[in-house]
Amino acid sequence: MKKITIAIDGFSSTGKSTLAKQLANHLGYIYVDTGAMYRAVALFAMQNGYINADFFDKQTLINNLPNIKLQFKFNADLGFAEMYLNEVNVETEIRTIEVSSFVSKVAEVSEVRAKLVEQQKEMGKDKAIVMDGRDIGTVVFPDAELKIFMTASATTRAQRRYDELIKKGDTVTFDEVLANVEERDYIDTHRKDSPLVMAEDAIEIDNSHLNREEQFELVLELVNEITKKV
Ligand code: DC
Repeated sequence: MKKITIAIDGFSSTGKSTLAKQLANHLGYIYVDTGAMYRAVALFAMQNGYINADFFDKQTLINNLPNIKLQFKFNADLGFAEMYLNEVNVETEIRTIEVSSFVSKVAEVSEVRAKLVEQQKEMGKDKAIVMDGRDIGTVVFPDAELKIFMTASATTRAQRRYDELIKKGDTVTFDEVLANVEERDYIDTHRKDSPLVMAEDAIEIDNSHLNREEQFELVLELVNEITKKV
């Protein structure tokens, strides 16, 4: 069966990465979580004091982009690749609510996007890849054979994210998480460079009322149809 490129875009906490991991494991494809890359850049900016609650020194971050090395390293126990920032495993650190609260601002910077998009295109040059993010079907792989756009209501998404954070031992309130989801939706859809929009040829999946398995089966059928054709 021919290898294809699968682009999964959509709002935050719609379960993009869960679906992308399931597909990649099933098909033997590479999985790339591009949100992790933006999160690692946000963490770098936080660690170096370029960003905090009321300040963002964009120019110094831009000047220091050559000092940011991002890598994915496969963890066989977990079954997926973890994010490394300058050789340090930051997989856990990049998932905190603090990083979530700064990442959209960092992702608005065109120079940051250009650097990460270049690396993402390189990772997908041999196809057999499932990549999730916000601009994969529109900017990174406009020629992807399959483009999925995932949506769910803000409260459904906030509840999923809240449950995840509580399970990890984070002390957040549901309202904080909902506010963060809504703020990120706004910034992601309104930024000048590569705003979150559905590609014209994408297939929209609203998974507010779909469980993991139903969603996976639905998308796998689409993959099978396409790989038969190409
Ligand atoms: O998917 P996520 O929530 O981990 O993404 C973190 C942030 O990164 C999100 O607020 C938007 C941004 N992002 C982006 O702008 N482009 C991508 N391809 C992936 C994520």
